[in-house]
Amino acid sequence: MKLVLSFLKPHWKLCLLTVFLLLVDVVGALIIPTFAAQLMNEASFMINSLQSALASAERTFEFLDDEEEIPDTATPVNLDRAEGTIAFEHVSFGYSPVKILMKDISFTAKPGQKIAVVGSTGAGKTTLINLLMRFYEVNGGAITIDGITSTDLTRKGLRKNFGMVLQDTWLFGGTIAENIAYGKPDATREEIIKAAKMAKVDYFIRTMPQGYDTVIENDANNLSVGQRQLLTIARVFLCDPPILILDEATSSVDTRTEAEIGKAMKELMSGRTSFVIAHRRSTIRDADNILFMENGNIIEQGNHTELLKKGGAYAALYNSQFA
Ligand SMILES: Nc1ncnc2c1ncn2[C@@H]1O[C@H](COP(=O)(O)OP(=O)(O)OP(=O)(O)O)[C@@H](O)[C@H]1O
Ligand SMILES: [Mg+2]
Repeated sequence: MKLVLSFLKPHWKLCLLTVFLLLVDVVGALIIPTFAAQLMNEASFMINSLQSALASAERTFEFLDDEEEIPDTATPVNLDRAEGTIAFEHVSFGYSPVKILMKDISFTAKPGQKIAVVGSTGAGKTTLINLLMRFYEVNGGAITIDGITSTDLTRKGLRKNFGMVLQDTWLFGGTIAENIAYGKPDATREEIIKAAKMAKVDYFIRTMPQGYDTVIENDANNLSVGQRQLLTIARVFLCDPPILILDEATSSVDTRTEAEIGKAMKELMSGRTSFVIAHRRSTIRDADNILFMENGNIIEQGNHTELLKKGGAYAALYNSQFA
């Protein structure tokens, strides 16, 4: 299909115009003498239809015009397990090159540090994470991992150093054990149980009818939101990546479950460089560095004490929302 469309691409406007003129010609020759008024109606209907056909053709070709993902470097550096230093060096980025969202972002995260990414909706928190994982390419500057520019690694080589716990937990139809072992299919049962214990979900799993062999339904309806999140935390414990991305849940779980998730997350973050899209006061206060974002840029950074002392945008938000 794509081939046919690319072949037609240079000529598509011409093709549609020819079809249009032909139709007008034929219809005109048949009807003009007797049904002039009706012709006007039909012609305007036809023009409307053609206009919308042209518009959708244009959208199709715009889609075809979209740049393909740039290929991985042919001579990648091998980074088996990162220490976990991450730096953004004067990064600029726009989802469209004509509309730059991030103008000049710089920060460094040292191994094991906890970075809270804070900002209102649309501030650019997810975008920052997308760039870190190379779901998009920067327009300027560089992102480095242990001093290696991330484009010098393959995407796969880069991403194996990351673990993610997102708000929308993703589980598939399979047993609990298979779900935990998703990132490490050759894991032994002992390793799976150890990871579940670390995520504080082992006890709950043992109360299920078939324990670790209980099948999770496709929509995971037989599990609560909190249990699903703990299972994805166990999954990350098992893979043991040096860098973490956590999107702190805002969804409603009961206070006890929230405390359990909080504890498991805290343990997971220990010894790993962690980026947390943070909503909880305690997470933000404990962070080694807070990146306070607005309109795609970091407008303030520092730890809680430093930023409060500064008395700027973070202090204003903190005092209005949390104090
Ligand atoms: N795929 C995309 N294409 C074009 N623009 C996008 C895309 N994703 C996000 N944006 C825009 O980039 C800006 C930053 O969005 P982003 O998703 O990073 O915000 P956020 O801080 O994660 O917000 P939220 O708290 O709502 O998740 C917004 O203006 C958004 O509309
Ligand atoms: Mg977001």
